[in-house]
Amino acid sequence: MKAITYTEYGTPDVLHIKEMNKPTPKDNEILIRVHAVSVNMGDLWGRNFKAITPSKFSMPLPLWLPSRLYFGVTKPRINVLGNEFAGEVESVGRDVKRFKKGDPVFGYRGQSMGANAEYLCMAENGIVAVKPANISYEEAAAIPYGALTALPLLRRVNIQPGQKVLINGASGGIGSAAVQLAKYYGAEVTGVCGTPRLGFVKALGADKVIDYTKEDFTQNGEIYDLIFDIMNKSSFEKCKDSLKPNGVYLLASFKMKQVFQMLQTSRSNGKKVICALAMENLEDMELTRKLVEEGKIKAVVDKCFPMERAAEAHRYVESGNKAGSVVITIG
Ligand SMILES: NC(=O)c1ccc[n+]([C@@H]2O[C@H](COP(=O)([O-])OP(=O)(O)OC[C@H]3O[C@@H](n4cnc5c(N)ncnc54)[C@H](OP(=O)(O)O)[C@@H]3O)[C@@H](O)[C@H]2O)c1
Repeated sequence: MKAITYTEYGTPDVLHIKEMNKPTPKDNEILIRVHAVSVNMGDLWGRNFKAITPSKFSMPLPLWLPSRLYFGVTKPRINVLGNEFAGEVESVGRDVKRFKKGDPVFGYRGQSMGANAEYLCMAENGIVAVKPANISYEEAAAIPYGALTALPLLRRVNIQPGQKVLINGASGGIGSAAVQLAKYYGAEVTGVCGTPRLGFVKALGADKVIDYTKEDFTQNGEIYDLIFDIMNKSSFEKCKDSLKPNGVYLLASFKMKQVFQMLQTSRSNGKKVICALAMENLEDMELTRKLVEEGKIKAVVDKCFPMERAAEAHRYVESGNKAGSVVITIG
């Protein structure tokens, strides 16, 4: 089978198509013929993790070393990237009950990667579900990462109908899912993003959009129940006056400083800082499938690239010009 591989860290030029052995599913696994994978921040990090120094790492320092060891210190340990995918079940192991040959599926592999290949094995109880019929493989490949990250984080802060929620970083992989999920939970949503993506965030269902290059949302007098700062671009100090008395400042990216703020504010009755890591799970994958079927979550695919042009896909994501998801079609 063909796979997009890399054996050294670096620019998108390190990505090459290579022939590899087609995997054979174990008794509890399904073999998937991959049709589409998306390119998200995890792929960019994995491709050049040696450039992610502790200061560039968007998580606390104690998590940097295990991540560096996991991805490989001097060269990549994992040679095929790709964490979210969609495809068709080609065959099933003899103990598999949830899937059958021919089922369209989509799923998430997290840090184990490996979806940038024509074939992929997944445990039947892994994070994989039947693809909703109302979306294409390309759209399906762009959904799991954002949804499976945003869902547990919004649940962690007990989001409620009628709450005023601001998503800072609303146009990204996690933010675009968070906007739609916050709407699903009945919140009034303001999305913050850059100028070229204001229309994109509005089309996701945001009630209001703010351009961070033109307006500082902490200075406009609006007060929120929840400020979800995906990339840690603001701060609790700046957001405090924009939070209701029991408001929450939620971070998907955070450093030790924010962890200490979380500990400090956890003891008070007032405004809280919450730093949370998403634990992706099959129940959320099934919920995501249902929400897609009901039209509550959609994926907007900006551009598709054939696997031979994977480097171009990575360059386009790195350019910061995308509005929606970038997908690589496989085979
Ligand atoms: N907590 C967890 O479990 C977890 C899981 C996975 C990932 N993460 C973290 O999530 C982050 C990646 O998120 P993602 O995949 O959504 O990233 P992404 O797709 O690259 O999106 C980045 C977002 O940040 C916005 N942004 C850039 N500069 C900004 C600024 N100055 N002010 C406000 N917004 C700004 C971008 O807006 P424009 O593009 O419109 O300019 C875009 O909406 C990483 O730091 C990663 O560590 C956390």
